[in-house]
Amino acid sequence: MCGITGYIGENKTTDILIDGLKRLEYRGYDSCGIAAVDAKGSLYLRRVSGRVDALDKLVAEDPAKGARAGVGHTRWATHGAPSEDNAHPHTDCTGKLVVVHNGIIENYLDLKEKLLAAGHKFKSETDTEVIAHVIEEKLKALNVQAAAVRSEMTEPVFFEAFRRAVNDLKGSFALSAVWAPCPGMVLTARMHSPLVIGLGKGENFIASDVSAFLKHTKRVVFLNDGEMAAVRKDGVDYYDFKGKKTAKDSVTIQWDSTMAEKGGYKHFMLKEIHEQAEAVENTLRGRLLPLGGDVLKAEMGLTSDDIKGFASVQFIACGTAHHAGLVGRALFENFGIPSYADVASEFTDRAKLMRKGTLVAAISQSGETADTLFAVREAKAAGAKVIAITNTVGSTLTREADYVLYTHCGPEIGVASTKAFLGQLAAIYLLAGHFAAARGILKASDARRYAEDLLKIPRLIEETLAQEKDIAKVAQHFASSEHFLFISRHVNYPIALEGALKIKEISYVHAEGYAAGEMKHGPIAIIYKGMPLLAVAPSGRTLELMAGNVEEAKARGADVVAIVDEDSRKRVKAGRYITLPKTDELFTPMLSVIPLQIFAYYVALAKKCDIDKPRNLAKSVTVR
Ligand code: AGP
Repeated sequence: MCGITGYIGENKTTDILIDGLKRLEYRGYDSCGIAAVDAKGSLYLRRVSGRVDALDKLVAEDPAKGARAGVGHTRWATHGAPSEDNAHPHTDCTGKLVVVHNGIIENYLDLKEKLLAAGHKFKSETDTEVIAHVIEEKLKALNVQAAAVRSEMTEPVFFEAFRRAVNDLKGSFALSAVWAPCPGMVLTARMHSPLVIGLGKGENFIASDVSAFLKHTKRVVFLNDGEMAAVRKDGVDYYDFKGKKTAKDSVTIQWDSTMAEKGGYKHFMLKEIHEQAEAVENTLRGRLLPLGGDVLKAEMGLTSDDIKGFASVQFIACGTAHHAGLVGRALFENFGIPSYADVASEFTDRAKLMRKGTLVAAISQSGETADTLFAVREAKAAGAKVIAITNTVGSTLTREADYVLYTHCGPEIGVASTKAFLGQLAAIYLLAGHFAAARGILKASDARRYAEDLLKIPRLIEETLAQEKDIAKVAQHFASSEHFLFISRHVNYPIALEGALKIKEISYVHAEGYAAGEMKHGPIAIIYKGMPLLAVAPSGRTLELMAGNVEEAKARGADVVAIVDEDSRKRVKAGRYITLPKTDELFTPMLSVIPLQIFAYYVALAKKCDIDKPRNLAKSVTVR
């Protein structure tokens, strides 16, 4: 998964490209590069194995002069190890045509074989470089010698060569290209990889997502799969891959670029932890009342009758989003509605066995996770209706689902998902409330109380966040531990899994999340003296059992931190406590996860880990 940028206009092209790459580094950061062309048709190309700051320094040593159009790329290796040779942009044999690409070209080896036979020379192991040579071949087939091309001829020829090349590619690509003899146009195309165009005044932008150019413009056009665009400084033309011109609407993004800045926090992750109350509030806004009514009809065409017509709900997702799905399963089952939750990559057989009338709920912050998209296609093939729960406007998932329920969390830049998770939970609680009320499971007074309790959550989140310093102290005490255990039950069992995942992904330390009822069936054997064990034990039907689990763990030497409320604190005998504001047990996951997020953050901070860009991880996994 990588980040691409493109620019055409009168401003400092390389500065804009590099600044855009800096905002996309969370999409991949093992190598990067830019290419830019000037009015005289000379090409400027710089690449580094490493982060965008290194590229910035290299360009500053010998800046491009007069460049007016260009492309940039920050890479997450899929073919070929991170190196300068494998860094994008990649050129053709003439060195006058460059491409940047996010995705995987599945037929690149076949294409490369033919190109080698035709005498092409390659400098990298990447699939992307093949694209540059395919375009070069198409230019040759159009009898074009770059030097000989007259400017009024250049654009249609470049366009046709690019279009033909794109039709030869199989797989996923967000692709942009510039050709030195054609400095007035940047071409871009999209298939199964996100791509958005920013519309400026006398300048236009291309990027993998809007955060790259939000400081310049908020007016954007999302390309769909099978679409391409000719981007000039004074306008953009859109086509399908057959070359047929298409009309596209622009949308105005509500996010401003400061939202995507750190806003004074040390890391995006901490900033986003503190944005969770707002994320829940914005996700619930205008969608809750009357619970069970047609309140979702206008936004997503989901009526109360539609909801009553679904026999069960099947969650599919990956990682943290899957943990949200597990909370959803417990919640729907609590209402007596059959519900299932599977990791998307293990859904293939289940897709074929789904009962008629199943609503598949695909949860994905990015809306681009390949495993989740693949599972959605399997669900659709099995005839299921799909609702997308996603944070990304215009993402692929939104175009493949029957209904879309956006979590309005704003951009989540930290690779470790936090506010997006809370947004997903808010969306799921919203849906569960409508399902239960529409079926009469929640009678009018119960439905009102459910909605009131849900609307109180943002304030309770703020109260929980106010304990950050105390939680940080607890985390610092355990920061050198090599193993962590998280346990809970019922709606909070997935929170134990999520707490473990947070530690793993940002501190690189072993951690396990378990259903507390499982302890006696094996895990209790791993407890050693002083082992940190975090137990989520709010008041409710599981409290007595949780109190017993904590006793057993302590008796074997565990150092227990209990996440409790003021009542359950009296019952649970732990070494340390983090006390949540009181709410109905059903809603506690939206609070209990917060101390675990903060705990993981401060353990990682103490270990000096790269919290926003953890090793081996990408923000959105767009390959399977
Ligand atoms: C969560 O902290 C991880 N970054 C990861 O598990 C993530 O939740 C997963 O890859 C799913 O991403 P998505 O929500 O964009 O589909």
